[in-house]
Amino acid sequence: MPQTPFYYYDLDLLNSTLNALQAALRPDDPFCVHYAFKACYNADVSRTIAARGFGADCVSEGEVARLLELGFPAEKLVFAGVGKTDAAIDLGLQAGIGAFNVENLQELDVISQRATALGKTARVALRINPGVDAHTHEKITTGLPENKFGIALEDTLLAIRRAHELPGVEFIGLHFHIGSQVLDASLFAPLCDVINALQHDIEQAGFAMSYINVGGGLGIDYENPAGNPIPDFGIYFNVFRQGLELRPGQQVHFELGRSIVGQCGTLFSRVLFVKEGKEKKFVILDAGFTDLVRVAMYGAYHHIENLSARTGEAVEHYDVAGPICESSDVFATDRLLPHTQRGDLFAIRSAGAYGHVMASTYNYRTLPQEFVGNGPMNF
Ligand code: LLP
Repeated sequence: MPQTPFYYYDLDLLNSTLNALQAALRPDDPFCVHYAFKACYNADVSRTIAARGFGADCVSEGEVARLLELGFPAEKLVFAGVGKTDAAIDLGLQAGIGAFNVENLQELDVISQRATALGKTARVALRINPGVDAHTHEKITTGLPENKFGIALEDTLLAIRRAHELPGVEFIGLHFHIGSQVLDASLFAPLCDVINALQHDIEQAGFAMSYINVGGGLGIDYENPAGNPIPDFGIYFNVFRQGLELRPGQQVHFELGRSIVGQCGTLFSRVLFVKEGKEKKFVILDAGFTDLVRVAMYGAYHHIENLSARTGEAVEHYDVAGPICESSDVFATDRLLPHTQRGDLFAIRSAGAYGHVMASTYNYRTLPQEFVGNGPMNF
């Protein structure tokens, strides 16, 4: 058994999820799925996704470079990111990536300048802020007008005109992303309405587009990962099949992160101490928010299991905390768990997305190791 805390990714579950994803895509769908790489950088996980022919969505120079190393073809990379550096833009241009998802007008000018200087043409999509509410956590919603992301809806035509005037850029279409961990797929229907209305305006103005990128955001079941390990990709794609009025030759691009890798990852941790407070009992784990920050940062829920539970012992309420010197370092409050002892092994589920990638070394801790295998980890 590796030293805890560590991450483990079940490649069987990842493959089953990818099978479900591929089965939900019909041969006549003009749909392209890009893996939102920021969710999980593990090489085996990423290569498994690349091997299925999916593209990837990236947000930094480092991500572009790494995705190319991992075997994703440049033409299947789409590059979003609110603050692209010149070096990142140059790398994307040199590699010949599929699309730059451009977040503001100044970025459009800079991409034009860099492309002209390098003698390249950048395929650009404009990221439009659709003003659609994803009804998700305020820190992971992105499609509302007050977010820093994207070009304002009312500036769409202005931005398209600008893209047509500039040298070195080829306008291919529009990009959107309403937010993450969206559990009700019907919340994407208003996005389709916005896109249809924009299509109309764009055509009236004499422009055309081939690329419609609807971003990512499909959520996973954090409450019941064992019972519901694979998201319903079929329902999700249906919303777009029914909602989007596509023109011939148009392709719809998706940037799915959490729904692909979220459930295949588990964070394993040992109980260092059980502290009996006056009113509460605390389980102190050797994992903290440096290993998995989602609970401290977003108030997220993760299912937690005591894998060392002894049969016949009563369940009790525990606060499950980490060792970091911050009171926010708590994974769960008043969680019902089997009677717990020092040395017990805990599993924190649904940690495959935005888990290891967001780990830090605060408190001079080491980053958790990552392992992969086929099937649930055997102890
Ligand atoms: N496309 C864009 C432009 C994005 O900003 C994101 C996520 C995605 C795609 C992928 O979204 P997904 O399919 O994974 O929901 N750290 C937070 C989530 C941040 C999401 C950031 N953007 C969390 O742990 O919940």
